[in-house]
Amino acid sequence: MRAVDIIIKKRDKFELSQSEIDYFIQAYTRGEITDYQASAWAMAVLLNGMTDRETTNLTLSMANSGQVLDLSDIVNVVVDKHSTGGVGDKTTMAVLPIVAACGLKCGKMSGRGLGFSGGTLDKLESIPGYNVNLTTEEFKKQLREIGIVLTGQSLDLAPADGKLYALRDVTGTVQSIPLIASSIMSKKIAAGATAIVLDVKVGLGAFMQTLDEARKLAETMTSIGELAGRKVKTMLSDMNQPLGIAVGNILEVKEALQTLRGGGPADFREHCLVACTDMLILGDRAAQPDEARAMVEQVIHNGTALEKFRQLVIAQGGDASFVDQPEKFTNANFIETVFAPHSGYLSQVHARLIGEASVDLGAGRAKKSDPIDHSVGFEILHKVGEYIQAGEPLFVVHANEPGKQKRAVEAALEAHSFSTSPVQHLPLFYN
Ligand code: URA
Repeated sequence: MRAVDIIIKKRDKFELSQSEIDYFIQAYTRGEITDYQASAWAMAVLLNGMTDRETTNLTLSMANSGQVLDLSDIVNVVVDKHSTGGVGDKTTMAVLPIVAACGLKCGKMSGRGLGFSGGTLDKLESIPGYNVNLTTEEFKKQLREIGIVLTGQSLDLAPADGKLYALRDVTGTVQSIPLIASSIMSKKIAAGATAIVLDVKVGLGAFMQTLDEARKLAETMTSIGELAGRKVKTMLSDMNQPLGIAVGNILEVKEALQTLRGGGPADFREHCLVACTDMLILGDRAAQPDEARAMVEQVIHNGTALEKFRQLVIAQGGDASFVDQPEKFTNANFIETVFAPHSGYLSQVHARLIGEASVDLGAGRAKKSDPIDHSVGFEILHKVGEYIQAGEPLFVVHANEPGKQKRAVEAALEAHSFSTSPVQHLPLFYN
């Protein structure tokens, strides 16, 4: 088989066989197929799509490109959660310690930023010393001992996705249902999950812009899960405006910490509560949503959720003093509050524009080798539907270079639109 023939076949809109997909994925993982060929292939998939059969084969091939974990000796139901990616989405950093504090052991493999959407690993690396490269043995030991792990993909789980994910980030090939579905589900299957909560984001700052696309992605992942014998629960959540206030790595860690302390923005807090509830029910820790919610509120209130986060940071080599004194995190050099240019109802806070501006500030990558600037980003102070008075603080920019600061102010102003007549608030979730 030749890689070029497989690329051509997909370019010409034909269905790839299981053996063709397997050959391509395994050879790419071994480094026998180059990044430029994989980029061309990913673009052909993005443009021409895949059948459900191809998507399932791609998922299983990526899951089998490395080890597949069996955690049944540690946890009865291995519950995992995954978001399809959004702006200001720091949910994992709050939800994992909460459910772990409720007694649901949870080990998760997270990803880096992808396009305009931030990544949990980049955020966690804001904490000095935090190690996102655990071995399988370390992963299992930590899960057994403290019931929580939050690491990256280096432990030879779905290495094909690790490579493709980084490539898609910088080749304009993120926004594809088969590529997203297989990327997420291959990681979940390889990490040994038996039950998965999938947070499918929809809107301007999501990879799925319409409810129809988001539903299709949710259905695709559910059917892959069923074929692979996994339970899947999907939630469709709004991503037209950023989630919470903070966008940018350190800022988001701080907001997750505030939430674990019982504060945090109302929308983010509620989003986390719903995700935790689904996880606790799937993981057989609670029978009903009310019971799960009460457990979540209790572990936040009594400090055990925050304590779980502290244990996680210590176990993974991070400096826990940053958990106790978030003011120790480095601030950006320039912190500018921008005021509302006029009065009106906020009709849009364009999440994608904010996400892209945040990448431009240095919070994400333009090419694979780019370093992340952890201290930069935005605080987006208002939500769609709110009435804003001219001169009220609208957002705060955190920048390290004056030129980037100026561009960020302009972009974030453009992201905010006003209306003279009342505007409906956006829902957190869709059916
Ligand atoms: N999250 C993933 O893990 N992969 C994608 O492709 C998109 C979001």
